[in-house]
Amino acid sequence: MKLRIKELLQSNPTEQQIEVQGWVKTCRDSGNLCFVEITDGSCLTGLQVVAEANLVNYESEIRRLSTGCAVQVYGKLTSSPAKGQTVELQAESLRIIGPVDPENYPLQKKRQSFEYLRSISHLRPRTNAFGAIARIRSELNFAIHRFFREQGFIQVHTPIITTSDCEGAGEMFTVTALPADKIQGVESFYQDFFGRRAGLTVSGQLQAEIFALSHSRVYTFGPTFRAENSNTSRHLAEFWMLEPEMAFCDLACDMELAETLVKDLVGTILAHCADELELFERFVSKGLLKKLETVQAQPFARMTYTEAIAALEQSGKRFDFPVQWGTDLQSEHERFLCEELADRPLIVTDYPKSIKPFYMRSNDDGKTVAAMDILVPGIGELIGGSQREERLDLLTGRMEEAGLNLKEYDWYVDLRRFGSVPHAGFGLGFERLVQFVTGMSNIRDVIPFPRTPGSAPC
Ligand code: 4AD
Ligand code: MG
Repeated sequence: MKLRIKELLQSNPTEQQIEVQGWVKTCRDSGNLCFVEITDGSCLTGLQVVAEANLVNYESEIRRLSTGCAVQVYGKLTSSPAKGQTVELQAESLRIIGPVDPENYPLQKKRQSFEYLRSISHLRPRTNAFGAIARIRSELNFAIHRFFREQGFIQVHTPIITTSDCEGAGEMFTVTALPADKIQGVESFYQDFFGRRAGLTVSGQLQAEIFALSHSRVYTFGPTFRAENSNTSRHLAEFWMLEPEMAFCDLACDMELAETLVKDLVGTILAHCADELELFERFVSKGLLKKLETVQAQPFARMTYTEAIAALEQSGKRFDFPVQWGTDLQSEHERFLCEELADRPLIVTDYPKSIKPFYMRSNDDGKTVAAMDILVPGIGELIGGSQREERLDLLTGRMEEAGLNLKEYDWYVDLRRFGSVPHAGFGLGFERLVQFVTGMSNIRDVIPFPRTPGSAPC
C-alpha cells in the first residue's frame, strides 16, 4: 500500500521518487512557482507540493488548479523551509485526474455555514470540519470496541427489525411488505411478512439482556430508529446507540462502567485527535479542550432525582417548564444542573417510576426506580440506563400496568423464570458523544447522513 499523506508528513526526506494522490485544498501561484496544498482525507494538514515552471503543463494546467481538483503527483520528499511543516513534495510531474469547474463548485474557499453545508451533504465531508468529524467518529467507534474487548465483553448483533417496543413510547417505525391500500388497523399485519406488526428497533436492550443472561458481559452497538417528531439539535430519527448489559451487576456497578467508559473515550480522543480538537477549539467551541480535560480529571457529580428537583426549586431561576416531582427533567433543567450547579458531568439517579419504562427495577420506596441518566455540559442527556427488574412478579406487574401484551413478551419474562440474576445496562447516544467531544451544536452535523422529520436527502 502507498503511504497516505498523514504518514508522509511524519516521514523523513527521501531521495526516492514517490507518488501521491489527493485533492487540491489551495493553490498559491507566485509566478515561476506554485504551492499546491493537497489532502487525501487522512489528516487535517495537507501536504505542500512545490511545482516549478519547468513542468510541462505548468502554464496550461498547474497555474489554473482550483480547490477540489483531483491530482496525482510524482516527486521527492524534501525538508521544508516553511513554518509548520517538516517536509514538502518537490513535484517532478503533476497530473489532473479529475478537474473541477471553479465557477460551479459549491465548496468555495471561504468559510461556509454549517446550515448551508447541510444542504450539500454529499460534498461537506471534503471540508476541514466535516473531515475532522468523520475521523473523530471513526476513532470513537474503534475505541468503543477496544474498550469493551479489554473489559471482557462480547459484542452481540441485536436485530434491526423487531416486534418489541423496548421503550414503550410508541415511536417505532413500522416495517411492512403490504401495499399501502392493504393496511387498515393493526389486524392487517396478521397478513403481513412477519404475521404481526414489526418495526425498526428503538433499542437493542431487551435482546442484549438475553445474552447478558448467558454471557454475563455483552454490548450491542448499532443504528436505532425513533419516529419522534422532535426537531431539536439533539434528536435524530436514525442514530447509533451503544448498549452494554451486565449480569451480576447493580446500579452502582452500571454507573461505574459508564463513567469509566466516557473517561476512556474522551482520553482516547485527546490523545489521538489533537489536530482535530484544536480546530474545534478555535472555530467551534472555545474552552473545549479544558472541558474535556476536566471530564478526565474529576469524578462525575451524583445526585438523586429528588435532590435534583429540590436543587432546581431552590435555584431561584425561572424555567419555561415547571419543576415538579413526578415530571421528567427538561433540557433546560438538565443543563442548569450539570452546567451551572455541578459544572461537570452529572449522574442523576432514582427517577419516579411513573416516567420510566417497565423494565427498570423498583426501589424499596415503591415510588422510584433504579435508573440513572448521565448529563454532560452543552448536551444534556448523554446516557440513559438502569438496573433491570429481575423479580418475576414485580416485572409482570409493571408490564400489565404498562398495558403490554404479556404473551408477546413471554421470551423476556422467561429470563426471570429461569436463572434470573440482578443485571443492569445503559444506552449511550453515539452522536451526542460526538457532539460532546467536538463541541458541535447541532446533531445533524455529526452524523454523515442525518435523518430528521421531513428530511432524508442522500
Ligand atoms: O434513554 P434512552 O431512550 O434509553 C434506552 O433506549 C435504553 N433502552 C438504553 C439501555 O438501557 N440499554 O436512549 C439512550 C440514549 C440517550 O441517553 C441519548 O443519548 C440517545 O440514546 N438518544 C438519542 N440520540 C439521538 N436522537 C434521538 N432521537 C435519541 N433518543 C435517545
Ligand atoms: Mg433517556
